[in-house]
Amino acid sequence: LYVNMKILEHLLFPAPSRTMMKMEKNSPAAGSLAGKVVLPCHFSIMPASPTTSTHLRIKWVKLDGSEEKVVLVAQGGVVKVGQEFRSRVSVPSHPLSVGDASLMMVKLRASDAGLYRCEVMHGMEDTQDTVSLNVTGVVFHYRANTSRYTLDFPAAVEACRSIDASIATPEQLTAAFEDGFDQCDAGWLADQSVRYPITVPRPGCAGNLLSRPGVRTYGLRDPTETYDVYCYVDKLNGDVFYPPSLKDKVTWQQANEECEKHDAVLASPGQLFAAWRAGLNRCDYSWLSDGSARYPITIPRPQCGGGLLGVRTLYKYENQTGYPDRSDRYGDVPCLHPKSVGIDSSPPY
Ligand SMILES: *[C@@H]1O[C@H](CO)[C@@H](O)[C@H](O)[C@H]1NC(C)=O
Ligand SMILES: *[C@@H]1O[C@H](CO)[C@@H](O)[C@H](O)[C@H]1NC(C)=O
Ligand SMILES: *[C@@H]1O[C@H](CO)[C@@H](O)[C@H](O)[C@H]1NC(C)=O
Repeated sequence: LYVNMKILEHLLFPAPSRTMMKMEKNSPAAGSLAGKVVLPCHFSIMPASPTTSTHLRIKWVKLDGSEEKVVLVAQGGVVKVGQEFRSRVSVPSHPLSVGDASLMMVKLRASDAGLYRCEVMHGMEDTQDTVSLNVTGVVFHYRANTSRYTLDFPAAVEACRSIDASIATPEQLTAAFEDGFDQCDAGWLADQSVRYPITVPRPGCAGNLLSRPGVRTYGLRDPTETYDVYCYVDKLNGDVFYPPSLKDKVTWQQANEECEKHDAVLASPGQLFAAWRAGLNRCDYSWLSDGSARYPITIPRPQCGGGLLGVRTLYKYENQTGYPDRSDRYGDVPCLHPKSVGIDSSPPY
């Protein structure tokens, strides 16, 4: 009844043709790989006037350098979605009544991170604002120090845990695949299935998808079977640093001692992958807590990992098995200052 009265009022006393809109200030948004996030976009129309939602047009674009990618356009119940956001984005079905044009995004990928612009057009009015999105989390392949395919399911879960990560879910592996992850090694996942991601199909990596790109699956497996594992790490829980005083190359034991001198611990693979994801770039192999040697590349250079991005792992044998001997010496030592437990330093909002 109230609404009808409002409409009647407007028929008798039409609102001024100029409708005012106000956009609330947006805060940055953050989500995890394969998770979901809401990119906020709230508006209000003043004075309150009777309008039909066909007059309202919502457009979300992603700003990629000078390029603009259409994410979603919604008007009068018709929604169009850009190719790479298909089945992953939505806006409220009655945005006008709630003044809400926020974008819900699911199955997040690392490549979704960046700057987004929300545009709300209402009649002749047009208002817009930008919001930035961070996506944390990385999936990585993990092989035990003995050989290929040696982990049963309980050992796979434990292997990830012991390097400060968790066993990845199929959804996380799929999101990583969409970002370009390619690894021709079957690995356990959290649902006790065994899969591997292939972006560049090639002989020996056909799996159940033959020559199509995609995540190959062996289905759910008996927990006593043995494979490698895919681990997931969300955020770095501390600060990784390289002691500047270190002059000589060191053994695994000495690397541990070097970090202890700084009240820190030798970084684990999980922490190194998280640090890589946050932008860490080093060109020399270094010891990690599990006895593996790796380095993180975020700035491509031919002499550092052949111009490819990612974390390089040094295996003892050409067939990509075995960790180096712990008496071998490497020059770079990544130490971690763990975050103090029990103190929440994130801003309260
Ligand atoms: C997003 O990431 C940048 C760079 O890593 C960081 O400075 C910023 O605080 C992050 N924002 C949020 C909302 O997490
Ligand atoms: C291999 O890994 C096992 C279990 O993680 C560990 O106990 C052992 O010391 C490692 N061996 C070498 C040579 O790194
Ligand atoms: C890898 O190579 C080493 C040394 O040549 C060999 O002992 C080992 O059996 C090989 N492992 C696999 C899985 O092929």
